[in-house]
Amino acid sequence: MDIRRVRVELGQRSYDICIGHSILSGLARHVKSLPVGRKGAIITNPSLNKLYGESLSRHLSGEGYGITTIELPAGEKYKTLKSVSRIYDTLAGERFERSSFIIALGGGVIGDIAGFAAATYLRGIPYIQVPTSLVAQVDSSVGGKTGVDHALGKNLIGAFYQPLLVWIDVGVLKTLPGRELIAGMGEVVKYGVIADEQFFKYIMESYRDILSLDKETLIHTVARSCEIKAMIVSSDERESGLRAILNFGHTIGHAVETATGYRKYRHGEAVAMGMVAAARLAVNMGLCRNDVAEVIDRLCRSIGLKTALPSVNTSELMDILRRDKKVVNEKIRFVLPVRIGEVTITENVDNDVLQETLQLCYTHDKSEN
Ligand SMILES: NC(=O)c1ccc[n+]([C@@H]2O[C@H](COP(=O)([O-])OP(=O)(O)OC[C@H]3O[C@@H](n4cnc5c(N)ncnc54)[C@H](O)[C@@H]3O)[C@@H](O)[C@H]2O)c1
Repeated sequence: MDIRRVRVELGQRSYDICIGHSILSGLARHVKSLPVGRKGAIITNPSLNKLYGESLSRHLSGEGYGITTIELPAGEKYKTLKSVSRIYDTLAGERFERSSFIIALGGGVIGDIAGFAAATYLRGIPYIQVPTSLVAQVDSSVGGKTGVDHALGKNLIGAFYQPLLVWIDVGVLKTLPGRELIAGMGEVVKYGVIADEQFFKYIMESYRDILSLDKETLIHTVARSCEIKAMIVSSDERESGLRAILNFGHTIGHAVETATGYRKYRHGEAVAMGMVAAARLAVNMGLCRNDVAEVIDRLCRSIGLKTALPSVNTSELMDILRRDKKVVNEKIRFVLPVRIGEVTITENVDNDVLQETLQLCYTHDKSEN
């Protein structure tokens, strides 16, 4: 088995991210090298259980583990405390102990819920992330942010809790719906802009191979994205400084998601709009050259990500931005590009410049969004 390893350095909480193609069944043997007991729960949704969970469970049983599978319904609307409670019911009912482990098999929704259940059951049991969507492989499975939504806001309840291992089989992306794959590319482009110009160029040259699921290109893309995220998380686990640069594109992106009720766009799609809007804001503030915004815009559109803001009222977007949970002392915090590969964090954004920029990014052409 050809496996690339990326290490997340966090002292005693350090862990490996293992990336390869068709490596899912190999996880069962790898678990034997980890400090876990003989009892484990696979948390997944019904379709992913059929596709991958059942066979993973058989492989783990073949290695002598007692495996329980917990199926949660698919979808963000089930990322709730109620789902976590269902997990507790099964774990407690089956007398899971401190050394028993959880495997989160799914996209970001499953990863966030299962991670939170692992963080809180018996004050923390080990868990393994097995991300199956591109967003989860390059972003949500790494870094230890776990949690669920509340009626009053997304991701309002949660904990920082690092996994014991992240096991990424890029082969499972073959069943991921095309729109989800493209949405995940929004986060991949983000890594190039915030930290690595060479990687950005690589994505420009190889996005077609990524979208057609070329094995080597996928492995490199996922591994480099994880390396960048690992480096940032290792230096700032709890987002007191540098980690905030991962929010590039997310401030305006979240506002777009909120304005459209989290139904119209996938997260990565909104991030693409947010990245281009943030880049145009940086141009208007004299922080970067126009070609930086242009090249981000062009790459996102080539991949199939729309970049013009949807037809929502700019003053509504401004109101939502002011209510963002990342607002500090009433100042909206933006991550803005200086050049490809470098961003800066600023709270000094003039409201008029922001409003003008949003207006510029807004589309009246309904066919585009
Ligand atoms: N914790 C973090 O750091 C972090 C970071 C980014 C996003 N998130 C969270 O992640 C969630 C979004 O994640 P997502 O985009 O993966 O959405 P998701 O988990 O809803 O997955 C999208 C859809 O794809 C399906 N799917 C996943 N993998 C598949 C595969 N291999 N084959 C077939 N179908 C597959 C899922 O069942 C689901 O229907 C949000 O809740 C967001 O808040 C968390």
